[in-house]
Amino acid sequence: MIHLHLTTIILAVILYVIALVLYLRDSPNNAGKMTHMILRADYIFLIFSGLLVYIQNMEGISASGGHMMYGLKVLFGLAAVALMEISLVRANRSAPAAKGLTIAAVVIVVITVGLGIYLPLGPLSSMF
Ligand code: HEM
Repeated sequence: MIHLHLTTIILAVILYVIALVLYLRDSPNNAGKMTHMILRADYIFLIFSGLLVYIQNMEGISASGGHMMYGLKVLFGLAAVALMEISLVRANRSAPAAKGLTIAAVVIVVITVGLGIYLPLGPLSSMF
């Protein structure tokens, strides 16, 4: 399940960048909208796989005393998805807050990736 999580993250980052560039180039933009819709479908798999990894490892998480970091990982993961979505909607409308929200989304995604690598599960963690 962690592999599905990683695959959906990579797909989400690629689709987010493409949709953002298309929206910033000109909006409304049909290609941007289509990319955004595919990204929204990917969010479902991203959240589902993250929650499943969390639930499947509940016992190990409790035993290791690492609840707080796992709780933070889930919170940051959900916040990252929310900010990616909100920043794209604002970029599509050329709203003034779009730039700040995009920066916030990038910062939260970077922190989430850092937390994921810091926590012990998954192929990325074992690389470091
Ligand atoms: C854009 C959003 C997200 C990003 C960028 C992200 C990133 C990552 C990364 C890089 C890993 C480590 C994989 C590895 O070590 O190979 C990971 C693991 C994990 N993620 Fe996410 N994630 C996101 C969303 C979520 C969500 C929404 C949830 C839960 C609802 C979640 C729960 C988890 C859990 C439980 C792990 C396992 C932690 C561990 O390594 O022990 N993630 N995530």
